[in-house]
Amino acid sequence: MDFTDQRLSYEKGELDQQSVPASPFELFKGWMDEALAQKVQEPYAMSLATCGVDNKPSVRIVLLREITDTGIVFYTNYESAKGQDIAENPNAEVLFFWHELERQIRISGPIAKIDADKSASYFQKRPHDSQVGAWVSQPQSGEVANREVMEQTFEQLQEKHPTNTTVPTPAFWGGYEITVEKVEFWQGRANRMHDRIIYTQSGGDDSKGHEGNTGWTTKRLLP
Ligand SMILES: Cc1cc2nc3c(=O)[nH]c(=O)nc-3n(C[C@H](O)[C@H](O)[C@H](O)COP(=O)(O)O)c2cc1C
Repeated sequence: MDFTDQRLSYEKGELDQQSVPASPFELFKGWMDEALAQKVQEPYAMSLATCGVDNKPSVRIVLLREITDTGIVFYTNYESAKGQDIAENPNAEVLFFWHELERQIRISGPIAKIDADKSASYFQKRPHDSQVGAWVSQPQSGEVANREVMEQTFEQLQEKHPTNTTVPTPAFWGGYEITVEKVEFWQGRANRMHDRIIYTQSGGDDSKGHEGNTGWTTKRLLP
């Protein structure tokens, strides 16, 4: 297959360094609101890149579950392949691509487990069958002989924890928060002249002269 003649001209928006908000959280939430309003399918699905001590990057989709004051949170199995990577190297990057808006967002920073209490409270809000599914998939990313083995385990656990009974929160399951250190917003433009604005944390006033210490510096990057 050859895609070399496939080209789209991106013309839906623009990003101006002088008028972006002082905080990347504000812009991220604004873009997320627009994606939801424009019915982008699961705009909170993000590609998560990790890299363990083998220096081989791995990437997979996870669902963003919360934007906090300091970072972004998703939930997973701590003993999965990604959990192993994070234990070895607690740095991560996530990527959102919203084709409908011709936008890409990259967020990176240190990553750490969230409080077990907060994970438990989220786990208990999940549908019963998803809770059971989390117990089946242990260790997530481990090999299983066939689908029947998974289904049998699911049924056994359903019997052990019937609907309307509490499924205990697995100790091996919970949230991670990536503390936002760097965010890049990419808006597609015509003629490959795309807009890229990157926010990094700064000690003092930001480069646009916002008053006081906003904590963030912006730069325009070549596309
Ligand atoms: C749309 C979508 C959403 C997903 N959401 C999650 C999630 O929130 N947490 C999770 O652990 N895996 C999620 N997955 C599955 C992961 O992509 C991946 O298969 C799994 O976490 C195992 O990854 P690992 O072996 O690299 O640890 C999702 C997959 C898709 C396609």
